[in-house]
Amino acid sequence: MEENKKKRIFSGIQPTNTPHLGNYFGALRNWYKLQDDYECVYSIVDLHSITVRQDPAKLRRQISESYALLLAMGIDPEKSVVFVQGHNPAHAQLSWILSCYTQFGELSRMTQFKDKSQKHADNINAGLFTYPVLMAADILLYQAELVPVGIDQKQHVELTRNIAERFNNLYGETFTMPEPYIVKSVQKIMSLADPNKKMSKSDENPNAIVTVLDDRDTIMRKFKRAVTDSGCEVKRGEGKEGIENLMSIYGAVTEKTFDEIEKEFEGKGYGDFKTAVGEAVADSLLPMQENFKRIISDKGYLEKCMKDGAGKAFAASRKTLQKVNRKVGFINL
Ligand code: TYM
Repeated sequence: MEENKKKRIFSGIQPTNTPHLGNYFGALRNWYKLQDDYECVYSIVDLHSITVRQDPAKLRRQISESYALLLAMGIDPEKSVVFVQGHNPAHAQLSWILSCYTQFGELSRMTQFKDKSQKHADNINAGLFTYPVLMAADILLYQAELVPVGIDQKQHVELTRNIAERFNNLYGETFTMPEPYIVKSVQKIMSLADPNKKMSKSDENPNAIVTVLDDRDTIMRKFKRAVTDSGCEVKRGEGKEGIENLMSIYGAVTEKTFDEIEKEFEGKGYGDFKTAVGEAVADSLLPMQENFKRIISDKGYLEKCMKDGAGKAFAASRKTLQKVNRKVGFINL
């Protein structure tokens, strides 16, 4: 009985490049933390990733690696549903249906579409435009109530709510209304090379991001080089976005508040602080990195988890798709 009372969570990550600290602290770490209290469905969203050109061999490798990383960080495939989006055809099916209930104007207003179409001006494909509809389908298929994401995905969750509301108004209660779940202190981790830009997988400067698989030396080097300001006090304030970003990261690892961090580093300079942040991050990632090495080399285990996850995802989404089919006037066989 208890089981039935748990709220449902859905979230996804694109398998493009190795996840970085923004992905980890902004989203993935919460995925792990939430799995005891919620019924969680987590997906490697391969369909979303081809809205930008990918090298097929690299993409295939990244899908397995991203999947293995979720397991390595402690997401338990027995407790949560962990699957690759393209392994459940219901996502593409519902996405098509929902695209007929989404307005061109709504999609034109999405900031991610505007950003990405500027960045990839030679490939503004229809998938890039309808990307948020597929994301709405991901969430609504599982009747998710909560969606743990960073702040950059909030607009997409809001659009999902609008689509759900429109559909429910037309056809009666069909979809659960989802809420974004955003942890304020780590909602947007910034680039280490430019603290006014978010840390992003597509950044061409390797010093701008720390990935969850970087080794200790690399992590230390990147934090030492992190762009700060010309001051020397470890404090938040005007023009101190770089330090504030490092404080967010340090706080995320140590669970210390900004005030506690300011106190800890009173009278110490940026050099000491950067070393402390680097060490804390490297230590905290180490167990996951060791699990990752073990899991990625066990191809049989990975494939079994993917197959089981796909089966569970299909079973969990079937009822919603059938309901939607019925409501719009299709025939379920
Ligand atoms: P993606 O793959 O870009 O990122 C995965 C998660 O990481 C968060 N994130 C950040 N958080 C804090 N600081 C940052 N610098 C930072 N960069 C990324 C993202 O907000 C995200 O939570 N469209 C989604 C994937 C997706 C999805 C979904 C998410 C597809 N379907 C359904 C939730 C529900 C995306 O591209 O995430």
